[in-house]
Amino acid sequence: MKIYSSDGAKIIFYKGDKFLVYPGVYEPAEDTFLVADHLEVKCGERVLELGTGCGILAILAAKAGAEVVATDINPVALECARVNAVENGVFGRIDFRCGDLFDPVRGELFDTIIFNPPYLPVEPKEKLNEPLELAWDGGKNGRRVIDRFLNELSLHLGPGGRAIFVQSSLSNLSKTIQFLESNNFEFKTVNKKMFFEELFLFQCYRR
Ligand SMILES: C[S@@+](CC[C@H](N)C(=O)[O-])C[C@H]1O[C@@H](n2cnc3c(N)ncnc32)[C@H](O)[C@@H]1O
Repeated sequence: MKIYSSDGAKIIFYKGDKFLVYPGVYEPAEDTFLVADHLEVKCGERVLELGTGCGILAILAAKAGAEVVATDINPVALECARVNAVENGVFGRIDFRCGDLFDPVRGELFDTIIFNPPYLPVEPKEKLNEPLELAWDGGKNGRRVIDRFLNELSLHLGPGGRAIFVQSSLSNLSKTIQFLESNNFEFKTVNKKMFFEELFLFQCYRR
């Protein structure tokens, strides 16, 4: 269900929890819910969510008892996520930081890293040049952000750590699989068929 409030923010619900989505912030969609539906976080885990958007996944992790760091490159998204954390009673469990990928967490280790990245291939001529585009624009081959994420992932996973991330069939799935296999990750996937693509949720663990 979506409700549009008078200040332009949308209101969405996930399993009874309510979230505001400010204009210019990614509205939780099938990819978000694919992660949310499979998010198993233990109490006391240290969780990093990259690209938190309106904060829904970070907030669900915090509600499960995790200590969360949530980042985004879009400051409006972080403001929206902060408000949602307050409204959902978990503001004190989430540390919000603005910045590019792992920049805000240099030198830090996590038990779980969550990322629903921008993964759609976008040709330069298709660009809209608006902040919301950062939410889906994966560059020409869809891999601009995900490749940088994968290359740094190991530096931020603690012993036995795992990563949960989304990938589209449109952005060279086999490159991700090859990367994980050759970098000693065990992984499993859950997939969801969409109209023009298939979404894959990767859950990977360091061997
Ligand atoms: C597909 S949206 C996901 C938002 C939210 N996690 C969800 O699942 O609904 C991707 C998010 O990543 C953010 N983002 C894009 N590039 C980023 C980067 N290089 N570093 C940090 N965040 C980034 C976008 O601003 C956007 O909020």
